[in-house]
Amino acid sequence: MPTVLILGAGSDIAVALARRYAAAGFTLQLAGRNPEQLRPLEQDLRIRHRIAATVHAFDALDFASHAGFYRTLPAPPDVVLCVFGYLGSQEKGQENWQEASRILHTNFTGAVSILNVVAEDMAARGKGTIIGISSVAGDRGRMSNYLYGSAKAGFTTYLSGLRNRLWHSGVHVMTVEPGFVATQMTEHLALPALLTAQPDEVAKDIFKAAERKKNVLYTKWFWRYIMMIIKNVPEPIFKKKKL
Ligand SMILES: NC(=O)c1ccc[n+]([C@@H]2O[C@H](COP(=O)([O-])OP(=O)(O)OC[C@H]3O[C@@H](n4cnc5c(N)ncnc54)[C@H](OP(=O)(O)O)[C@@H]3O)[C@@H](O)[C@H]2O)c1
Repeated sequence: MPTVLILGAGSDIAVALARRYAAAGFTLQLAGRNPEQLRPLEQDLRIRHRIAATVHAFDALDFASHAGFYRTLPAPPDVVLCVFGYLGSQEKGQENWQEASRILHTNFTGAVSILNVVAEDMAARGKGTIIGISSVAGDRGRMSNYLYGSAKAGFTTYLSGLRNRLWHSGVHVMTVEPGFVATQMTEHLALPALLTAQPDEVAKDIFKAAERKKNVLYTKWFWRYIMMIIKNVPEPIFKKKKL
């Protein structure tokens, strides 16, 4: 059975993805900062889907540990889902470097650090799939979240380059750009219901798109068109909008 490694497995989108991949018979490697919190999910997936699952400690900000973490997994994964992220506070980050650095390093540097390790292994094996969860926030800088947005923009560009490089080695890289999703990350925000997806809808889209080897997935689908419009608003108008 193929194996999927989920980085940031405690996230609401990751839990929905774990259920999808388990239902499809994948062996699961669940990695997160607090492995004990992942145990109930591991047990539930094992019983419900009769699949093998393991739990691993992983901190995106502990860059030095990434190579060792990957090397000690029970098996090299066929699919790696990079799901962790940190929205943080734009306002706090403007005046507090610790907050800004946490936003930048979790969403960009941490993802690059672990995926560099994964990429070398998959390139050597000549197979595999890397799926990175970026965000539509990376498509254009807005005054309300440009720290998070710029980190995700960097991640989107990293994934694009990685895809171009690894295609020559038989490895597929998919970029996922969710719009609003109802998760712990956004529970303090008043999201417009019509534009907001549930984690399970996002997981379904990702699973299907990965099977079809899509390069870039916007989820829900209409975000591709929303972002096309937003990206094309002239800067003199955009900066007056206070978005
Ligand atoms: N929700 C949205 O509207 C939305 C939109 C676009 C993109 N996204 C992206 O979707 C992904 C999943 O987010 P979500 O909405 O499911 O949010 P979530 O439930 O808040 O999950 C965020 C996850 O990231 C993990 N994490 C944070 N810092 C970490 C670190 N240093 N090391 C390891 N894990 C760390 C958290 O781990 P703990 O469990 O240990 O706290 C948590 O499991 C993120 O990349 C997010 O940026 C979300």
